[in-house]
Amino acid sequence: MQPVGAVGLDEVTGLTTPIARFLDGNSHLPTPFLVFDLDVVALRYHQLREALPMAKVFYAVKANPAEEVLARLDSIGSSFDVASRGEIERCLNLGIDPSRLAYGNTIKKERDIAFAFEQGVTTFTVDAEAELEKVVRQAPGSTVYVRTATDGTGADWPLSRKFGCDLSEAAALVRRAAWAGMSFGLSFHVGSQQRDVQAWERPLADVGDLLRQLRGEGLEAVGLNLGGGFPSHYVDPVPELAAYGTAIRRSLAAHLGDFGGEVLVEPGRYLVGDAGVIETEVVLISRRPDNDEARWVYLDIGMFNGLTETLDESIRYRVGTPGDRANQGPVVLAGPSCDSADVLYEKAGYQLPLDLRIGDRVRLLSTGAYTSSYSSVWFNGFEPLRCFFVSAEDQGVVAA
Ligand SMILES: Cc1ncc(COP(=O)(O)O)c(C=O)c1O
Repeated sequence: MQPVGAVGLDEVTGLTTPIARFLDGNSHLPTPFLVFDLDVVALRYHQLREALPMAKVFYAVKANPAEEVLARLDSIGSSFDVASRGEIERCLNLGIDPSRLAYGNTIKKERDIAFAFEQGVTTFTVDAEAELEKVVRQAPGSTVYVRTATDGTGADWPLSRKFGCDLSEAAALVRRAAWAGMSFGLSFHVGSQQRDVQAWERPLADVGDLLRQLRGEGLEAVGLNLGGGFPSHYVDPVPELAAYGTAIRRSLAAHLGDFGGEVLVEPGRYLVGDAGVIETEVVLISRRPDNDEARWVYLDIGMFNGLTETLDESIRYRVGTPGDRANQGPVVLAGPSCDSADVLYEKAGYQLPLDLRIGDRVRLLSTGAYTSSYSSVWFNGFEPLRCFFVSAEDQGVVAA
C-alpha cells in the first residue's frame, strides 16, 4: 500500500512511518496507549486552509488538548477555540497570545468569563439571554458570537438540541449585544463527524437572511463562524475535504456574497483524529449465553479509558490486528471495566481473526480525537490513556 501525502500517512493502515516505527520498536510497551503523529496535524491544518482559504482556523482544543498538539498548531499559525478556564490557561502557558483564543463554549461560569477577559480574551459565544448578560457584565466591549441551532442531520456525533437558538432569538440577542456596545458575529455547528458536505447549505442560507435583516437595522456582523464537523476516517466512508471546501465556498457565495466580515472555522476532529493510533491488548475472549455466533473480545481499553464516542456505537473506529490475518469472524468488542455499559460494538458487525488469542494486540485507527481527553482518571483503577508523540522532523518520539 502506498503511503499518501508528505507525512507518509497510509490511509488504509492508518499508520504513518513514524507511528509504524514506534509500534515496531515498542512491542513490549504496556498497553493501552495512543501514538500520535504531530506531522499529520500540520498536514490536516494545511489541507483545511487550502480547502477554505478565506477561513481563519480556531482549533477546538477539547479534541486533543495535549501541549505538543497545541504547540505544533501554534507554530503553524492556528488560533484556538477554548471551552473552559483550564484550556485558556493551558494555551496561555504555552505563550499563545490571548487575542488568538475564542471562548466558544456556550455554557460558562460568570467568573470564568471574567478570568478570560482579564487575560485578554475578547471573543465569546452565547446562545441564550442569560449567558449574554454574563458576557455583557464581565467582558464589556468584547465580540459576541450568537450560535444558531442546527439539527445535526448527517453527523455521526450530532451537537443539536443542547446548543443554539432559533433565528428570531438570535436576532434579539444581537440587538441586545449591540445596544450594550459589543460587536457581534453569528456561529453554528453542523454536528461532529459530519458526512454530508451539503450540511452547511441550510444554516448558511438562514444566516445570510438574518445578516441582511440585521443590516437593514444598521447592525453589521464582524464575523461568521462555520464551526467544526469536518471528518476523520472511521469505518463509514467520508468525502474528501476538498468536496467540503467546494460545497461551503459555493454556499457562501450564494448566500453571503456581500459579507465583509471575518470567516472562522473551529475544527477539532479533522485536525487530530487521523493523527493517532491506539494500541490495545486482548484481555479475554469468551462466549455469552445469548449470542453463540460472535465471540466476545474484551480489550484493555473501553468506554471509560478514552473510547467514550463508541456510545450508541456512534463513532465506529477502524479496528485491526497487526499483520495480515485472514479468516475473520464476528466479534462483540467490550472494555475491561466492571460496568455493563462498557461494551464498545455489538451491532456494528465487527470481525477479527478467528485465531485471535488472549494477549494479542489490537489496533484502533484514527483515534487521535476525543480519546485521551475523555479518558477517566482511575475508574476501576485503570490509568488515564498514555500518549506518545512522534514526528518525522524529530526522528522519533518527541514526548511521552
Ligand atoms: C463549540 C465547538 N466548536 C468546535 C467543535 C469541534 O467540532 P469537530 O470536532 O466536529 O470539528 C466542537 C465540538 O464539540 C464544539 O463544541
